[in-house]
Amino acid sequence: MGDKYNDALKFWNSAFEMDDNAKEQYKREVDPEKDWKELASSEKLRDVIIEQLSNKAKVLDYGCGEGWAGISLRKSGCKDVTCVDVVENAIKLTEFFEEIFDIREGFKAECVSSDWIKETAVDVYDGVFCSNVIDVLPEDVASVIIENISRIAVKGAKIVIAMNYYAELKSNSEKNMEVKNGNELYVNGILRLVSRTDDEWKSIFEKYFDVEKIEYFAWSGETEEKRRIFIMKNR
Ligand SMILES: C[S@@+](CC[C@H](N)C(=O)[O-])C[C@H]1O[C@@H](n2cnc3c(N)ncnc32)[C@H](O)[C@@H]1O
Repeated sequence: MGDKYNDALKFWNSAFEMDDNAKEQYKREVDPEKDWKELASSEKLRDVIIEQLSNKAKVLDYGCGEGWAGISLRKSGCKDVTCVDVVENAIKLTEFFEEIFDIREGFKAECVSSDWIKETAVDVYDGVFCSNVIDVLPEDVASVIIENISRIAVKGAKIVIAMNYYAELKSNSEKNMEVKNGNELYVNGILRLVSRTDDEWKSIFEKYFDVEKIEYFAWSGETEEKRRIFIMKNR
């Protein structure tokens, strides 16, 4: 693993840290019946994955972060959800939400090595969700993930990959933003985005999946729906 990947993992691990005080406050304020819906950064993205994946028998949320998607799918009827991530704090947070939202069965959260996806058996999942992962990682790491998502999913499985919007990148020293290799954006020295157009991603995905459609969504506070959801079928 290169330095740029190790630095990114440290960044993601710290991004998912929630201290005990914050957890206690969350517990006091949360409505466990319905606030799982608020975990998603976008209502539209949440609704799309529920529409596409909640009727699947066995779903993987790969690079789950705090587990918002897996939890939303389990709450929406999917009976077998696995969330994995390679950083410990992401899984700790997923387990915290699992407890808060009273998910008792049909849900597994696991901290795995980045080799997990290569070592998992073929043809296990009929639905895979992967959000905000492959376009924030070095190209070689992302390629292994894409290839192996296809390998561990059954033929015809629904594959939903969500990601940032395309941006023409420019370095900006005042904001500590540096562009390398044409499409990699580093903020404070940490890789945060590999920017590719829809067509560039499409041609990468089409090696393994049939791209059925691309939907667009925004995070709250954003005015334009430019973030992308590739909805695909495993070949
Ligand atoms: C931007 S976060 C996205 C989290 C979550 N999927 C979401 O939509 O909010 C990127 C996640 O990818 C995870 N990640 C990094 N390398 C990974 C790998 N090789 N396999 C799986 N997940 C990875 C990070 O630990 C981090 O949780």
